[in-house]
Amino acid sequence: MCGIVGAVAERNITTILIEGLKRLEYRGYDSAGLAVFTQQGNLERRRRIGKVSELETAVAAEPLAGNLGIAHTRWATHGAPTEHNAHPHFSGHELAVVHNGIIENHEELREKLKGLGYSFSSETDTEVIVHLLDHTLKTLPDLADALKAAVKQLHGAYGLAVISAKQPDRLLAARSGSPLVIGLGHGENFLASDQLALRQVTDRFMYLEEGDIAEIRRDQVTIWDVAGTQVQRETVQYHEGAEAADKGAYRHFMLKEIHEQPTVVQRTLEGRLGKDHVMVQAFGPQAAELFAKVRNVQIVACGTSYHAGMVARYWLESLAGIPCQVEVASEFRYRKVVVQPDTLFVSISQSGETADTLAALRNAKELGFLGSLAICNVGISSLVRESDLTLLTQAGPEIGVASTKAFTTQLVSLMLLTLSLGQVRGTLAAGVEAELVEELRRLPTRLGEALAMDAIVEKTAELFADKHHTLFLGRGAQFPVAMEGALKLKEISYIHAEAYPAGELKHGPLALVDSDMPVVTVAPNNELLEKLKSNLQEVRARGGELIVFADEAAGMSNGEGTHVIAVPHIIDALAPILYTIPLQLLSYYVAVLKGTDVDQPRNLAKSVTVE
Ligand code: G6P
Repeated sequence: MCGIVGAVAERNITTILIEGLKRLEYRGYDSAGLAVFTQQGNLERRRRIGKVSELETAVAAEPLAGNLGIAHTRWATHGAPTEHNAHPHFSGHELAVVHNGIIENHEELREKLKGLGYSFSSETDTEVIVHLLDHTLKTLPDLADALKAAVKQLHGAYGLAVISAKQPDRLLAARSGSPLVIGLGHGENFLASDQLALRQVTDRFMYLEEGDIAEIRRDQVTIWDVAGTQVQRETVQYHEGAEAADKGAYRHFMLKEIHEQPTVVQRTLEGRLGKDHVMVQAFGPQAAELFAKVRNVQIVACGTSYHAGMVARYWLESLAGIPCQVEVASEFRYRKVVVQPDTLFVSISQSGETADTLAALRNAKELGFLGSLAICNVGISSLVRESDLTLLTQAGPEIGVASTKAFTTQLVSLMLLTLSLGQVRGTLAAGVEAELVEELRRLPTRLGEALAMDAIVEKTAELFADKHHTLFLGRGAQFPVAMEGALKLKEISYIHAEAYPAGELKHGPLALVDSDMPVVTVAPNNELLEKLKSNLQEVRARGGELIVFADEAAGMSNGEGTHVIAVPHIIDALAPILYTIPLQLLSYYVAVLKGTDVDQPRNLAKSVTVE
């Protein structure tokens, strides 16, 4: 998704802007650009389709140097990914804007501005902002005054940065629906859509709040809130995660993040487990009181986070006896929902900025839910700020577009939720909580054992290199794990992958099975194992090749067309977390064999902040 970087300094800021954009590459984008107020006193820009490295080459060929600039990575929404649609957008030669989000009334504004004599050089919604601002400057010549007035006419979501050749001592920013952070330097200041972009230049940050406008000069930052009142925002020192934008010894961020899972799961558990129970207050001071009233749970999320929610449904119903519904946010937000009394609304999101999930939360507030809980990886996100309760996953920044460590930490958090609700409501069977707490403590070690399957999974990946379609099968709580396995494979290897509950095989997908259609199965040693084995026979009888990730004790062995890969034994309730690991590794190694862009798969974005 789009990224913003801006800088005002005494030194040349071009390389800072490009480095910042590189650090935002993980969000996904299809073009990049920057505008600099040059030492010659002009506003100049360079824009390129494709990677930031292309923009860097363009800047090297035709250098730009200056003390004030803005830069952007664009993920196309309005208008194709072309150079003329890439940001920054100009009005005349003196005003430049970069923008994240969507201006919903752009057509109406475009007509109005055309009527005022403005001509448009792009199909973007963003270009209306810069002309509107130019028009406003005619009556309100101060850039901050003009921006305050202009944004009042914008409907939709924006995080934007503005520079003017006429007022080249300042950078302006406005936030409504798209995050922005100011990076504080010494005699220089910066702006970005994500602090990660600025970790190279500072560790002190100020987060803009909804409706804020900021005027950023080299030695001063002024912020006005939504009511136009000048306000101070807290300065936060950033310590953790400085290393996150670095792949270290790993070939890809995705592999690094897969291998970080024992550590981040450990971190997610830290401070949340008592001797034999989960500490409910980890969910916030009012959690115990709220949880005591919960009779139903409604989970809403997107993508991988949705799959985590689907696993939680099995846990909440089977362990805590609490009815649970799970739905993708884009459906939930537009459906007429009937809310059962005393239902807790739970949103799950790595970023906390996914537009559909946020909109679903905002709708939920009107629908009479008991309260809202966000399970989220970003403490300063909109989802967290707008929810009653929060449990932060401690995955650290996730750079690979395909989510891995965020998923397993979400699962761990959802197990903590299941046990907390069951504990407070007294619905857990005797001994279950103590046993699971003990097993959760051992989980990081178990995940380490699963990661030791790396080499065998890499070898297994060769079976997929020339295939175009695959099926993933699972039963019970392993069905969503199969769904997540299929999602990972399609996201990064571009192989068509579908997941089915194994019992549904003969109701359709069996028709597709032949020797060109590998079938991947997750088979923990549980009460559904025998049923699963029969399903697998159905596949073998049609010549389908089977790849089975099976419990060491499941009694399954290799045979013709059947590849069994032993997975360390684990208690059934935690099996979804463990079995996720070999499936992540499988997708990764298949993608590597296919030579795709593992960390930034085509057409996908890390953080989907538009609908
Ligand atoms: C995008 C990402 C996925 C992610 C989904 C939901 O599609 O590529 O990896 O699962 O958004 O994102 P969230 O931040 O809400 O978990």
